[in-house]
Amino acid sequence: MKAVVIRSFGGPEGLRTVEMPAPLPGPGQVLIATEAIGVGGVDAVIRRGALAAYGFREGHLLGSEVAGTVTAVGEGVDASWTGRRVWAFTGLSGGYAEQAVARVEDVVALPDGLSGADAVTLGGSGVVARFALEKARFAPGETVLVRGAAGSIGITAVQLAARGGAGAVVVTTSSAERGARLRELGATHVLDRAGNGGPDAPEGFDVVIDVVGGTQLPDFLDALNANGRYVAVGVVGGEPPADFGARLMRGFRKSVSFATFSSDTVPEADRRAVREEQFAQAARGELRTVVHAVLPLERAAEAHRAMDAGEVFGRVVLTP
Ligand SMILES: NC(=O)c1ccc[n+]([C@@H]2O[C@H](COP(=O)([O-])OP(=O)(O)OC[C@H]3O[C@@H](n4cnc5c(N)ncnc54)[C@H](OP(=O)(O)O)[C@@H]3O)[C@@H](O)[C@H]2O)c1
Repeated sequence: MKAVVIRSFGGPEGLRTVEMPAPLPGPGQVLIATEAIGVGGVDAVIRRGALAAYGFREGHLLGSEVAGTVTAVGEGVDASWTGRRVWAFTGLSGGYAEQAVARVEDVVALPDGLSGADAVTLGGSGVVARFALEKARFAPGETVLVRGAAGSIGITAVQLAARGGAGAVVVTTSSAERGARLRELGATHVLDRAGNGGPDAPEGFDVVIDVVGGTQLPDFLDALNANGRYVAVGVVGGEPPADFGARLMRGFRKSVSFATFSSDTVPEADRRAVREEQFAQAARGELRTVVHAVLPLERAAEAHRAMDAGEVFGRVVLTP
């Protein structure tokens, strides 16, 4: 089969399309003929070699989420999966290929009418948005800030906050054009990356869902209202300063809270139920996904260049 591997760590030019034997489904696994492959930020981090300490080597086959049709099942897996269209999490490898294996626990059947591209745009990120808002104990009427809203996590969080009756849905983004697109999805106020947004912007937030982290995180901590809750879900802007806890403590008399959130801590059955619900909503057009571009698998390097250049609004999808 055709697959894309990291020939050498570094820039996108280190990615290579190769021929390799198709994987076989092991016990508890299914084999999927892929129709759509999600390109995530973590793929670029692995490609740069930044996770070599965690065992990622040159030669690694990238990709963690795919959609396609189950063509074979391993020992112990119900044979009725064969022939079904599914979304699957493949771990941190194996997705950039014509065929991929996944644990059956990480496979969700797709409803009719949902494209593979939409499924891989929503599958991994939708649960993060949903459970991060739950972790923040978001309630109707509250002012929510989604920091780094132009990615697939933020795009879903904006819609869920708006639909959940937020008093205001505030976003940070880097351009007016992106701000306009986020308004169409439910944002009521648009700030720049530093949090400046003109005289109408809310001064404080009850909930912050933060995909960015980075050096400016403490400034957004300071913007929490009394009893505000801050949930960090990503670090696309890098690590926060080591002393950000000191700024958190300065908010002591406002009773603010800071939490991290990873979907890894959500029970498998809950993740599955939310994915099924969100896929059904997307198929009915009630939840929108934003596919930035669909490219052939062998143009994976181009997808990575667009990500590295910060050009992607939503998600890039590869097709085999
Ligand atoms: N918590 C979990 O369970 C979980 C699960 C999966 C992934 N993640 C994490 O989530 C992140 C990826 O999420 P995503 O795909 O939604 O995000 P993304 O598309 O990679 O980035 C979201 C937006 O952040 C803004 N941004 C990028 N760099 C920035 C910077 N230096 N400063 C300020 N803003 C910046 C960009 O928008 P603008 O240019 O418009 O500002 C970008 O579109 C990763 O950190 C990943 O590890 C977490």
